Amino acid sequence: MASLAVSLNRLSLANPILVASGTFGYAREMEAFVDFSRLGGIIPKTITPLPRRGNPPPRTVETASGMLNSIGLDNDGIDYFIASHLPYLLSLDTAIIANIAGKDVGEFVSMASRLGQVEGLAGLELNISCPNVSGGVDFGTNPEMAAKVVSAVRSACGLPVIAKLTPNVTSIAAIAQAAAEAGADAVSLVNTFLGMAIDWRKRRPVLGNTLGGLSGPAIKPLALRCVYQVAQNVDVPVIGIGGIASIDDVMEFLVAGASAVQIGTANFYNPGVSETLAGALETCLADIGVESVGAVIGSLS
Ligand code: SIN
Repeated sequence: MASLAVSLNRLSLANPILVASGTFGYAREMEAFVDFSRLGGIIPKTITPLPRRGNPPPRTVETASGMLNSIGLDNDGIDYFIASHLPYLLSLDTAIIANIAGKDVGEFVSMASRLGQVEGLAGLELNISCPNVSGGVDFGTNPEMAAKVVSAVRSACGLPVIAKLTPNVTSIAAIAQAAAEAGADAVSLVNTFLGMAIDWRKRRPVLGNTLGGLSGPAIKPLALRCVYQVAQNVDVPVIGIGGIASIDDVMEFLVAGASAVQIGTANFYNPGVSETLAGALETCLADIGVESVGAVIGSLS
């Protein structure tokens, strides 16, 4: 069997199949469907300093080969996360990467320093890319602000840091470069593409917040392009996200330069897909006769 282990600077994973924040709850919801020990890691829903009610409904709508969401970072806040979700998450036999979002650098730093004291967390993913709230996404659309938040978090805690990037920019490679120079161990991309749905008969937007983020197979070619551009131009491990649902999708992202991938929207219609893909990756690597997943990463000619 090929070795599936990957190292993304200070973050080591048993295999490159992660589940994306916001698509897997806090894992308890998925325990009937997935053997968590088969995954490279779990990234639970984004947490914020205080509880958030999120955006008005409707907050999701299905689109052609995809889904729009405007959840608005609905969550119970970091205190509840630490008290009620983390003990369960940390009892699981897989890497747990907390995903945090703040309105300003101070909020990122205070959450990072609290989580940095938690024994057993594998890393932090900084959500600087949510299109459904005002403020936070500014970090992901401006290289200086991205660098500022990454470097402040790095100084505040010793955990490996992943910056989760938005595709809603002119040059995602420029943002990735800034995050890398500021000390990000890895960048994950892409978060959702800003979109909208309209009920023309009512002359109304479908989503309660008018705009939302598009994910799922519809965005895969766009996400693959972003991963390729970042991997070609920036010296930082990339975690690919965007419409990944099959082993061919996984392999395409790895060949394009991703060192790991996150499975997102597919979890909603096939909750066991991440475990299936971890098994399929082993088989696929054996079929093509490579000794480790590293032989495939960035192998596009
Ligand atoms: C949301 O809660 O609105 C989605 C999370 C995200 O896009 O980062």
